[in-house]
Formats: sequence, C-alpha cells, structure tokens
Amino acid sequence: MILTVTLNAALDHTLLTNGLKPHDTNRIQSVQSDAGGKGINLSRIAAELGTSTTATGFLGGGPGAFIRHVMHRQGVIDECIEIAAETRTNFNIESGDGPPTTFNAKGSSVTEEEWQTLVARVTELAPHASWVALGGSLPPGIPLEAFAILGRIAKSSGAKLALDADGPPMQAGLEAKPDFIKPNVREAERLLNRQLFGSRDAIIQAARDLCETLDAGDDTHPTVVISRGAQGAIMACPDGIFETDPLQIEPKSTIGSGDSLIGAFLHARLTGHDFPTALRYGNAAGAATATTDGSEIGRRQTILDLLEKTFVHPIV
Ligand SMILES: Nc1ncnc2c1ncn2[C@@H]1O[C@H](COP(=O)(O)OP(=O)(O)OP(=O)(O)O)[C@@H](O)[C@H]1O
Ligand SMILES: [Mg+2]
Repeated sequence: MILTVTLNAALDHTLLTNGLKPHDTNRIQSVQSDAGGKGINLSRIAAELGTSTTATGFLGGGPGAFIRHVMHRQGVIDECIEIAAETRTNFNIESGDGPPTTFNAKGSSVTEEEWQTLVARVTELAPHASWVALGGSLPPGIPLEAFAILGRIAKSSGAKLALDADGPPMQAGLEAKPDFIKPNVREAERLLNRQLFGSRDAIIQAARDLCETLDAGDDTHPTVVISRGAQGAIMACPDGIFETDPLQIEPKSTIGSGDSLIGAFLHARLTGHDFPTALRYGNAAGAATATTDGSEIGRRQTILDLLEKTFVHPIV
C-alpha cells in the first residue's frame, strides 16, 4: 500500500478560454473542476494503475467534500482529517496559447490540535504502508519541519519514504533521509544552490550529488529522479544513472505531471519492476497527465499506450 500525505490540498478550477486578455472581458468556453494536491494526485495515479493506496492530510468544507468524492470515485482510500477551515480553491486559466496561468491560494490555517491528529493518523497508518509519500506546500499553522517529523515516523515504522516539495520545507525534510526524491530542474537548483538549467551534464551530476546527500549509510540506497518536463527525466539509482527519451505528445496542462511520475514509479517498483522500467512508467504517466486539461490526471489506458513508446537507457 502507498500512503500519501497532502497537507495543503486544493480544489482546482480551470477556466478554458481562447487567449487571455488582462484588464479586459474574457469569454470562458468551459470550466473544469478537479481535486488538487501532490499526495492526492499521486494516489489517484497509483489507484489508476491498480496499486492500493490511502490518502491522508487535511480537508475541510465544501471543497474538501468535493475532493473526497473524487478520491472515492477513483478508488483511493480516504483517511483525511476533517478540519474547521475550508480547503483552499486555486484557479488556472488555460488559454490555448502556452502553459496555463495559475493562481494558487496559500491555504487554510490548521490548528495545533489538527496537526497533532494528523501526526497520530500517520503513526497509525504508516506501519501498513510499503511507501509513504510526502510533498507539496505547507499551509499556515504547520511547522517548517513537518516533512522531517512525518518522514521519521514513516521510516521508523519500516516504510520507504518519498518526498517531493520545494524550498525550506523540502530542505528540512531531507533530514529524514528519503529513499526517493523527484525535484524538477528548478527545485534541484534550489536544493544544491547552483545553476543546472539547460545543461544535461550538470543535471546528471546533480542527480549523483543529491543521491550522495540522501545516502544514510545503511543498506537502503536512495533514488533521485530529476524531471525535465518535455525533455523527460534523469535518474540516479542503486543500478546506475539512466535517462528517458522524451515522449512526443501534445501537451495541454502539465499540472500534476511530476506527481504522476512518482505515483507510477512507485507502482512499478511495488509490482516488482526494476528501476529503469519504473522510470519508463513514471515518464509515461507524467506525459499522460500532460495531455489532459487543468488538474486532470492521466488515465490508465493512455499511460499504458505511452509506456509502449517510452525508452530508458543507461548513461555511462
Ligand atoms: N510536455 C511534455 N511532454 C512529454 N512528457 C512530459 C511533458 N511534461 C511533463 N512530462 C513528463 O512528466 C514528468 C514530470 O514533469 P515536470 O518535470 O514538468 O514535473 P513538475 O515540474 O514536478 O510538475 P508538477 O509539480 O506540476 O507536477 C517529466 O519528467 C516527463 O516525464
Ligand atoms: Mg513537481
């Protein structure tokens, strides 16, 4: 079972328009509403591929109920904690002339008592999980070291730990020595405090260096995937360094592509596939999600179709 934790879930509304004119009247062609939040996306992809998954985190009010409905429909076991504040709502505009324009709310406050309830819930669920996946932003009221606290609980209960966040919360979470991280290039730059963008060699070295940082010195060797959007991904893992060939697709919205990569990667590892095959699954799922509008995630058949076209090769 994969346990995911989403501390700052969102109800995402995507407005589909024909171009975007600021300070003017824009006509909306349609509105699409979907569940958002890294852990929830990851769970949805894992469930889509047939892996049992439980999502916990905070949900509140009408937007929270909507997200519960999406999870239920998709076969994700819902262990989220109902909080007093209403779950945030984000807005995206997909104007057909480039990547979406996103407006992200900072999130609804979580009380100390609610945070402690979540810590207890993760402590209770983690022993049943093979992997615990943490990620996303922190809502107001949550300590900066949240991912280190939850990560240590996960690891001490025997689960493997995946972490996907940015900036100081990510840096703090590395203390728990995750077994898997998947920064995109910009996030990897912030983790290493050096420029990588545009240089494949620099990204390969970054994956190696991050792997070394995560190595806890025991028998469990970490895996680092640096995702490069349309250019695919580079992975440093116990079997060496690997790279995907980019997949040719017609991208609509890449929101959730990173989460999809992780969900499919963990699904593949749990079903006995080796690291390069797991990266193929990840690449296919990330690309499948990029072909969907707004925060919608890739569907099983699209992922399996793209998997046939995905190639991964070792870098020596
Ligand atoms: N335009 C694209 N064409 C093909 N594959 C894509 C495209 N965009 C994303 N992908 C796939 O999805 C993976 C993750 O995408 P990306 O690097 O954009 O993640 P991200 O920045 O973490 O996204 P997010 O955090 O919004 O989920 C890529 O490594 C690639 O496998
Ligand atoms: Mg990401």
